[in-house]
Amino acid sequence: MAEKPWDGRFSEKTAKSVEAFTASIAYDRRLYPYDIDGSIAHCKMLAKVGVITDEDASQLIEGLGIIKRELDHGEFVFDDSLEDIHMHIEARLLQVSGRVAQKLHTARSRNDQIALDVRMYLRDQTRQTIDLLHQLRTVLVDMAEKHQDVVMPGYTHTQRAQPVLFAHHLLAYYEMFTRDQARLSQCLERINVMPLGSAALAGTTYPIDRAYTAQLLDFPRVSANSMDAVADRDFAMEFLSDASMCMIHLSRLSEELVLWSTSEFGFISISDAFATGSSIMPQKKNPDVAEIVRGKTGRVVGDLVALLTLMKSLPLAYNRDMQEDKEPLFDAVDTLKACLSINVQMIPRITVNRETMQKAASVGFLNATDMADYLVGQGIPFRQAHECVGNAVAYALDQGKELDQLSLAELKRFASQIKEDIFAHLTLSHMIDRRQSQGGTATANVVQAIAEAKKMLADS
Ligand code: ARG
Repeated sequence: MAEKPWDGRFSEKTAKSVEAFTASIAYDRRLYPYDIDGSIAHCKMLAKVGVITDEDASQLIEGLGIIKRELDHGEFVFDDSLEDIHMHIEARLLQVSGRVAQKLHTARSRNDQIALDVRMYLRDQTRQTIDLLHQLRTVLVDMAEKHQDVVMPGYTHTQRAQPVLFAHHLLAYYEMFTRDQARLSQCLERINVMPLGSAALAGTTYPIDRAYTAQLLDFPRVSANSMDAVADRDFAMEFLSDASMCMIHLSRLSEELVLWSTSEFGFISISDAFATGSSIMPQKKNPDVAEIVRGKTGRVVGDLVALLTLMKSLPLAYNRDMQEDKEPLFDAVDTLKACLSINVQMIPRITVNRETMQKAASVGFLNATDMADYLVGQGIPFRQAHECVGNAVAYALDQGKELDQLSLAELKRFASQIKEDIFAHLTLSHMIDRRQSQGGTATANVVQAIAEAKKMLADS
């Protein structure tokens, strides 16, 4: 028999350098559990439709079980000359089960086999990622609930803008991660399609039962077009796009954790267990976890771009270029899961410095909009009110005071309609609780949003 399953027509041996260059076993070996499960289902199907005998099928399945155990226990020997995980398992099956192993690949090609393996792998990983996102959303909501009354400055242009509840800020991330989770759930539906039986590209002459294979492997759907099934990787590009989006969200959260933990902000302290020191500056406590998450975002976006570029302009159907899909995909999956998981552990251990946050919200004229709104309430058109308050801010700056530290007489210089009750309008709690517009930061809204989030987390 030929040395390689495909070298019947070759008169020269493959150059060693080519074997090394084309081999994917170094990374696709992690697909082995799916490859074996897929092969077992394929055997059962072939026996069911009578392409192989029941006896053949049980011998093949027994052999595959032995190989699975060898792989599980690290006893399996890998060899570059066998290219990929599919050929490794098939070659070993010949040693373990004898000649019957040569029947396994009937009505199948590595092209539909790899499409199946990647879909099964990504289906598992997407479910695990969804679970991690659920955990992250839970810790964010718990944190919001524990700090319901903490006020902080909200920012635009990284300049203090208006006071908000810290919980409201956290719930903004909750919303982002909720959408990330929803995107992955929708992506999962498109991943969860069974390609086996498409064979090399055109389907097969054998009377296979694809619905049965799908049922054995728990796929709700079978791919409709054999060429599409072996040629496309859009499900993986979609996953990478969703993963990139999620990493972008994580990078923004990380950036805020880095900023908030500086002595300039002092809003939070990261627990010692989740920070690291400097080898030269003894006083340092660095937010490396958040920094590394921020940094890893570039990797995942790079993985997406790698796969998009790989697939661009590829003619139908399978092309060997597509072997290059695995490393970016695996890297993005590993990276995203690690980043989600470390945040799930780190966030609950963050200490919130409520006084510092509250103080920051009290300094810097964050009540200027509210003063303008007060004037509107006294019948002054908003643009004019805006100007009056602008003048008052300039005056207060000059005096080295905040707006609420000016006397009533001083305030009246900017608008005669101002009365004593202005001061109540300029307090933090008033400013927060008056923002009752749907989705606004008022305590009542935030309390309700927390309750709804908790219900949603419990239901899903
Ligand atoms: N290692 C290949 C991949 O990852 C498997 C499919 C190879 N098919 C082929 N006809 N050479 O894409």
